[in-house]
Amino acid sequence: MIHSWRLDDAHQTLVLAAQGARLAAVVYWGPRLPDSEDIAGLHAAGLIDLTGGMLDDIPALSICPEAGRSFQGQPGLVLSDDAGRPWVPEFHLVGAEEGEGSLVLSYADDNGALSYRARFGIDRETHVITAQASLESARPMRLHWLAAPVLPASQHAADMIDFAGRWCGEFQPVRTPWAPGIRMRESRTGRSGHEHFPGLIVPGQGATNTQGEAHAWHYGWSGGHRMVAEELPDGRRQIQFGHASGTEPEAGTRFETAPLYATFSPDGINGCAVAFQRHLRDRIVTWPKPDAPRPVHYNCWEAVYFDHDLAELKDIASRAAALGAERFVLDDGWFGRRDDDTTSLGDWVIDARKYPDGLTPLIEHVHGLGMGFGLWFEPEMVNPDSDLYRARPDWVLGPADQIPGRNQMVLDMSRREVRDYLYDRIAALLSDNAIDYIKWDHNRLLPTPDAEQTRGAYALLDRLHGAFPMVEIESCASGGGRIDFGILGRTQRVWLSDSNDALERLRIQHEAALFLPAVVTGSHVGPRRSHTSGRVLDIRFRAWVAAQRHMGFEMDPRELSEEEAGVLTSATTWWKANRGWMARADILRLDSADPAVIAEQQLAEDGARFVVFAGQAATSAQISPRPLRLTRLSAEAMYRVDLVNRADLTGLSRGNPALKSGPVTLSGQYLMRHGLTLPWSFPGSMWVLEGTRLQEEGTS
Ligand code: DGJ
Repeated sequence: MIHSWRLDDAHQTLVLAAQGARLAAVVYWGPRLPDSEDIAGLHAAGLIDLTGGMLDDIPALSICPEAGRSFQGQPGLVLSDDAGRPWVPEFHLVGAEEGEGSLVLSYADDNGALSYRARFGIDRETHVITAQASLESARPMRLHWLAAPVLPASQHAADMIDFAGRWCGEFQPVRTPWAPGIRMRESRTGRSGHEHFPGLIVPGQGATNTQGEAHAWHYGWSGGHRMVAEELPDGRRQIQFGHASGTEPEAGTRFETAPLYATFSPDGINGCAVAFQRHLRDRIVTWPKPDAPRPVHYNCWEAVYFDHDLAELKDIASRAAALGAERFVLDDGWFGRRDDDTTSLGDWVIDARKYPDGLTPLIEHVHGLGMGFGLWFEPEMVNPDSDLYRARPDWVLGPADQIPGRNQMVLDMSRREVRDYLYDRIAALLSDNAIDYIKWDHNRLLPTPDAEQTRGAYALLDRLHGAFPMVEIESCASGGGRIDFGILGRTQRVWLSDSNDALERLRIQHEAALFLPAVVTGSHVGPRRSHTSGRVLDIRFRAWVAAQRHMGFEMDPRELSEEEAGVLTSATTWWKANRGWMARADILRLDSADPAVIAEQQLAEDGARFVVFAGQAATSAQISPRPLRLTRLSAEAMYRVDLVNRADLTGLSRGNPALKSGPVTLSGQYLMRHGLTLPWSFPGSMWVLEGTRLQEEGTS
């Protein structure tokens, strides 16, 4: 007898099926199937054949492939008993609960000592499937590996795309051809990490941003993950995601994976990106003020570093406000005796040398300018040179002789007294001062990755949120070292990168849009000469790159010339005028025919307007710009398209593309098939174009 279940939304169908009481396998995941599909017949039709050199039956590639049932690829579960003896269960079905868009499958092993549960949900609006596995036992067990429910990868795909990265160079896509064997990525740093973002895209052959099929995965966990993409000798392919191996060092009676988010798109990689962007924004993040516009940030880090002087900071705040900033974030350096990065982490007390009257004079000044006030913390860390470490050296995670990172150690967040101490310190500061924002940093790798550390950090964040629900939090870890849907269930913004170099940022935020909507993605206008690359970039380019996401400034405003301040003010004014609809827009990555151009289109929820950002990231090989194809417009509709920053034309643009002198009116068909012809521009510049759908389709 075949058991089968299906989950559908308008784009996709996920079919699970099993022979008798065996563990279910995903036997179909792709475009929506007809309601009349015979699922049991589909399962039978999809069974693969046997030949020489194989077992006499095919071990199922189930949601938790079982070594105990002769599955010869990577098992979904590796377990031992408390004494360290391998425990190789064989599960059978004990219950299936089907709800509206949800399915819970429960299994027990043959002697009833162990139960395995897989939960699935499909969100019919966002098109994201959520899958999570848990394991329970009456007696203690040691978990070496538990995969979230395993989804197959298409055998029609040629490649897979995952993401590497580094400090100031997050989200570097790595395209790998499928081949027999395993591609494994594992973040063992105790963070989701710069090095291995927990995401995967499997594009169908020929798929691009705007066309073709694609499947995508994201593992919502901040403590380090492992991904296994395996092609078996028989051609089947599986994707496993779970916590990094060995991060559950203690024996226990219950273990659970983080939620795995997955989606199929029938219309390009953008379909996956849009599903993740919307799901994160509308289902994962909790917004203290859902209807309030995202405020323009000013962050003082690259202006003053540790050198805090109240009069100077007030002056900087006044200038930032005049440029359009609406939130002032006081970064590292305000507490303990923190004059550099060797000291004081853990001593969350305002430095009376720098702030003899506390933070109130600065906060009042900032409020007087109409801005909110945010404060930097790095709660999970301690410097050996700190009062906290001197009092509680035993609170440190890992061995005493570990290699420090940025002169600091990690606090053991699994300990209640550590969390209580941090809660008390942070809560006192939030209670005594009008602070509505925290930048929550995490600047070093853990000595050893441990899931309990992540659960401890989550518990502290949750407790603070419970007590101060109106305070927003930004997740930062040397830039983008802790970006994932787990932390974003507890925060409202990510500091995508420590690189404020607009050229680098343009690329990083383009790739990150595969998973992140603009509203959570911080992007700041950096100094004229970037502090992390040494590159000098024009204020126009810096301003427009920041305007692509949640805009902010991070340079010393005293370095701005009058002309630069004017450019920045007007780009900020444009951003404020448009942020309302842009907050709910989809970021669509464009298939630029010119590799020197990184371009995207942000399309309003109702499709009636869009903005295109076309960044000239390098000098083009050909002498004139190639047309840029837009996407997801109505072919029959007419659109008025205008260049927002026509004033940025240079003298080297000598021809007459119509856009140089005024708006153009073109059909969606033309814009999507031929594309927009843009004026010539310098590398390190950006064209910004606004498009409006005209009322009557087919007329101009
Ligand atoms: C690393 C962050 O990424 C920076 O933005 C800044 O907050 C520093 N830490 C402060 O130490």
